[in-house]
Amino acid sequence: MNEKTLLITGIHGLVGQYVFRILGSWKGRVVITGKGPCRLPQHHFVYVSMDITDKDQVQAVFQTYSPSVVIHSAAQAQPDHCELNREDALKVNVEGTENLLQASSLSRAFFVHLSTDFIFSGNDGPYDESSIPAPVNFYGKTKLMAEEKVKSYSYAWAIVRTALVYGNVISGTRSNMISWVKTELENNRPIKVVSDQVRTTTYAADLAGALLVIAEREMTGTWHISGKDALSPWAMAIAVADRLGLDKRLITKVDASVFSQPATRPLKTPFIIDKAKRALGFEPLPFEEGLEKVLNGD
Ligand SMILES: NC(=O)c1ccc[n+]([C@@H]2O[C@H](COP(=O)([O-])OP(=O)(O)OC[C@H]3O[C@@H](n4cnc5c(N)ncnc54)[C@H](OP(=O)(O)O)[C@@H]3O)[C@@H](O)[C@H]2O)c1
Repeated sequence: MNEKTLLITGIHGLVGQYVFRILGSWKGRVVITGKGPCRLPQHHFVYVSMDITDKDQVQAVFQTYSPSVVIHSAAQAQPDHCELNREDALKVNVEGTENLLQASSLSRAFFVHLSTDFIFSGNDGPYDESSIPAPVNFYGKTKLMAEEKVKSYSYAWAIVRTALVYGNVISGTRSNMISWVKTELENNRPIKVVSDQVRTTTYAADLAGALLVIAEREMTGTWHISGKDALSPWAMAIAVADRLGLDKRLITKVDASVFSQPATRPLKTPFIIDKAKRALGFEPLPFEEGLEKVLNGD
């Protein structure tokens, strides 16, 4: 029987919130952590406020709970913020990961690290776990630096790369593609959406399920965990409008070059997920079904 203590960072994030929903299946103790006070609905887990950039605080939390498995989901995950606030991006994504790795070694915890398709250039995909990273923005660079720290951890680790995650979030936390499109179209606001970027978009519940399988079975190594359909954000927006009967004429198809965003986006980053299908039995929902779930509040 599994009686391990699981500790998770970034519980208020999109990914963290979906892991939170299924933590009841974890047989041992669960310690959930986030920055500041708990913003989640009522639960019976231990909640600890922990800033991952505060090394002493991280050490103290790990000394108290001695986790056997850590899922590290906290990050500065906004590419434009990272491009403009490089010190902050390094502090959260790289130093924060290093603080957690050092603290995890106290209890020799299995370390599961969330990473991203943005470590790739977007010019030579599709990508599997052995593809060569070449990030085109600072966010991607910090996430790749964090991966390198994880790979030099003295105990067992897994790196779980994912891409364009969609799902529902509790109010007051970060919005995502589907909720943004829905809100804008419902309010009759025109939107411009890029069609020259392609990602294997990921239903957050599929990702959360795979994370718990990897954590429970201590499946080491690098894993590509995403949906199976490669879509552009424009195709996603059209699908949302179609499903909800909203006005598609409000959606203008544009190239990424139309936006003067601080961080360059890698153009095409579809993932090959065969390894996860084979070794984990990972079977993500097709986008249409994931969308249906999200629009139904799941
Ligand atoms: N979402 C995607 O499309 C996507 C795609 C590829 C990879 N990923 C990766 O997946 C992971 C989870 O992403 P996400 O979408 O859940 O991101 P998110 O919604 O932005 O959540 C990140 C969480 O990290 C927390 N955090 C930031 N700085 C912190 C600090 N110093 N100490 C403690 N917590 C801190 C944030 O806390 P606050 O809520 O207090 O700000 C937030 O709750 C990240 O590693 C990200 O790089 C995400």
